[in-house]
Amino acid sequence: MTVSVKPLDAPLGAEIVGLDVRNITPEDSKTILDAFNQYHVLVVHGPTINDDELVEFGKVFGHIEKARKKSPLSHRDDIMVISNIRENGELVGSLPDGEMDFHFDRIHQVQPCKGAALHGLEIPSEGGDTCFANMVRAYETLPEATKKRIEGLKALNTFTYGATKPDGKNELGPHAIHPIVRRIPETGKKSLYVCRLMTDHIVDMPADESRALINELCDHIENTGLIYAHQWKVGDIIVWDNRCTSHARTDFSDKERRLMKRVTIGDTVPPLQ
Ligand code: SIN
Repeated sequence: MTVSVKPLDAPLGAEIVGLDVRNITPEDSKTILDAFNQYHVLVVHGPTINDDELVEFGKVFGHIEKARKKSPLSHRDDIMVISNIRENGELVGSLPDGEMDFHFDRIHQVQPCKGAALHGLEIPSEGGDTCFANMVRAYETLPEATKKRIEGLKALNTFTYGATKPDGKNELGPHAIHPIVRRIPETGKKSLYVCRLMTDHIVDMPADESRALINELCDHIENTGLIYAHQWKVGDIIVWDNRCTSHARTDFSDKERRLMKRVTIGDTVPPLQ
């Protein structure tokens, strides 16, 4: 069956139709890599696959990084389990419960990751949607005066492992400084690189001015029609470009199980200005 790319009726994203993720041909790889660069988020509806197959699929987009925490639900150290399931009171995975603010994976590292592929295995009946914001469009739709104002600025990004809301830890936690507008090498497009959860402050700017600017940019990202919210079905795989999309999660009941497995796709080039 020929693989086809069907743009979503959304500000970003495309569904990949007819793809056998267990058996990807060189032509399929080219089709999905081109779609990744053009649409930033890819949705594949399919049957569930095992961890080795998920890793092989992730390798189409780049090298796979280790998960920070190994899970009893995987034999592999490059599978990140994201789940609220507890066994004997202990969490089996990371990022367990409820709503999460918009963020970029690993932006608090000097070399953030290029993307990730997330696979849905157990899905609550309501909520737990993953929402993606188009950060290229976010940059392009800023007022010209704001584009001028933020040119060349850098921000410090921080993260406390497991946090779902900002906690003001700044330099006290793992952190990295990156440009707040980054260029995507494959397309030359500029993308806004700021998020609610992890961007702590703009470097060399008074604290109140910096906080107001971050809030203004985050409000623009979150409230101007730039978001696709994915309602999961068991077997779905979503791949996102972590350089030009940010993502968040909606709330869900702690009475229901949610089990996802993720591979993290590494990058080789730090964020370019
Ligand atoms: C993540 O940020 O990688 C997790 C997203 C989700 O649980 O939907």
